[in-house]
Amino acid sequence: MPNWINVEGNDNAQLMLVGEAPGKHEDENGIPFCGPSGELVNEMLREVGTSRNSVYVTNVVKLRPPDNDISRLNELGKKISDFEPILWNEIATIQPNAILALGDTALKTLTGKTGITKYRGSILTSNLGYPKVIPTFHPANLLGHHGEGMFKWRAKVTITLDFKRAREQSEFKEFCLPKRTLWICKDSLSLLRYLERNRDYESFTVDIETFKAMPLCIGLSFHKGEAVSVPLLDFPHDGKGTSYDELAHIWKLI
Ligand code: URA
Repeated sequence: MPNWINVEGNDNAQLMLVGEAPGKHEDENGIPFCGPSGELVNEMLREVGTSRNSVYVTNVVKLRPPDNDISRLNELGKKISDFEPILWNEIATIQPNAILALGDTALKTLTGKTGITKYRGSILTSNLGYPKVIPTFHPANLLGHHGEGMFKWRAKVTITLDFKRAREQSEFKEFCLPKRTLWICKDSLSLLRYLERNRDYESFTVDIETFKAMPLCIGLSFHKGEAVSVPLLDFPHDGKGTSYDELAHIWKLI
């Protein structure tokens, strides 16, 4: 039977990190995230302006599954749900403002949601309504044969941004989503006003959606509080769509 892995961290932590289950190094040392995944976690914590000593680190499952394969936990006569009461107890004791959920198992256990790719970076509520949960990819994805080069670099940037968001969210208890306006521009006058309103910005973000190399719509944003999506091929049909005149104006403005 593998060793029971204790938790580690600051009892007054405002941020709690929840991983999946201990690996080889954790099993040998009795400390969560003390191997290569732990080094990455520590580095990212430093990068976002906090440290391992300021946070509380734990795992959903407290025993190392055979071959680090969570689907083989049953070989130890255990299920993930056996460990849930322990985790909720830790949360009730520490009362963090925010939890950074590392990977799918932590996301599912804490929020009931599945699909880390879809939910990463979101500010969610836990199954109990409190505390906030910010999921991200498990840093172990950056290790070993899990992708190389560009993929790893992008994944690391993404995970670090999620760490940053979790650190910021851990500064307060309240659940308040960032205020954002996203709108669809259907006429050239609204687009003109939007561009005029933002004319002092020196840079902007652009995202072009295409189908078979044809631009379908373009998204623009000058700052994170507002973004507009401009349909480019919304031809008039059955009394709907944008008139050809309007489309021509929109294209010229873009
Ligand atoms: N991966 C985890 O999810 N937890 C650890 O403690 C180490 C690696």
